Amino acid sequence: MTEHQHHAGGSDEGTAAQLWDERYASRPKVWSGLPNPQLVAEASGLTPGHALDLGCGEGADAIWLASQGWSVTALDVSAVALERAAAHASETGVSENIEWVQQDLAAWVPERQYDLVSAQFLHSTLLPWQQALSLAAAAVRTGGTLIIVGHHPEGLPTWGNHHSAEKYFTAEEVARELGIEAPEWQLDVLDSRLRSATGPDGEPAELTDAVLRATRLAAH
Ligand SMILES: C[S@@+](CC[C@H](N)C(=O)[O-])C[C@H]1O[C@@H](n2cnc3c(N)ncnc32)[C@H](O)[C@@H]1O
Repeated sequence: MTEHQHHAGGSDEGTAAQLWDERYASRPKVWSGLPNPQLVAEASGLTPGHALDLGCGEGADAIWLASQGWSVTALDVSAVALERAAAHASETGVSENIEWVQQDLAAWVPERQYDLVSAQFLHSTLLPWQQALSLAAAAVRTGGTLIIVGHHPEGLPTWGNHHSAEKYFTAEEVARELGIEAPEWQLDVLDSRLRSATGPDGEPAELTDAVLRATRLAAH
């Protein structure tokens, strides 16, 4: 990242950045390196344009989107994750199509709108999902697509720190909170999906994903 990609943040930026940097620095690789399957399922049929990936982590989704022809802005609070993501993008040959932005969403407002906004597992104890996902919705242009995926509260991983129930949501709760309804939105997908996964120590698990996809029909 270059210096201009760093933005001033709010009072808890250090805390969020420190928390996530520590988490990423504790392992050479935290996530699988594969794009999230619900994103692949929901975005594969879309016409590529400019996408925003909020909480992009180690960048697998942004890299997959770029490989599908999207220009991608990929934002995360963790500089450690972004450095890893940028290296992976470079190895994959898609660096030119991805802008990595280090930013705390708690102190961010979208400066433009995007053809696709994706928020995958944007769960945080420091940032209420209601706030983070409202920002995601606000960043979708008229005619654009919003894809939100998260852990369903009744299908959480058994490993790691998944004890704070308020971090998680159903697709129905997201739709209600964000007002994803006509005439402003067309709700395309509202779902709970079982998914087989493997934990960090190789433990098999059945997880449930909350999945929402919507098309913005009109501005606010
Ligand atoms: C559970 S991880 C998911 C990462 C990625 N989307 C994926 O599915 O692999 C949540 C991500 O959100 C980022 N994040 C958490 N709080 C944030 C905040 N306040 N601002 C920006 N990013 C944040 C973390 O650094 C982390 O990379």
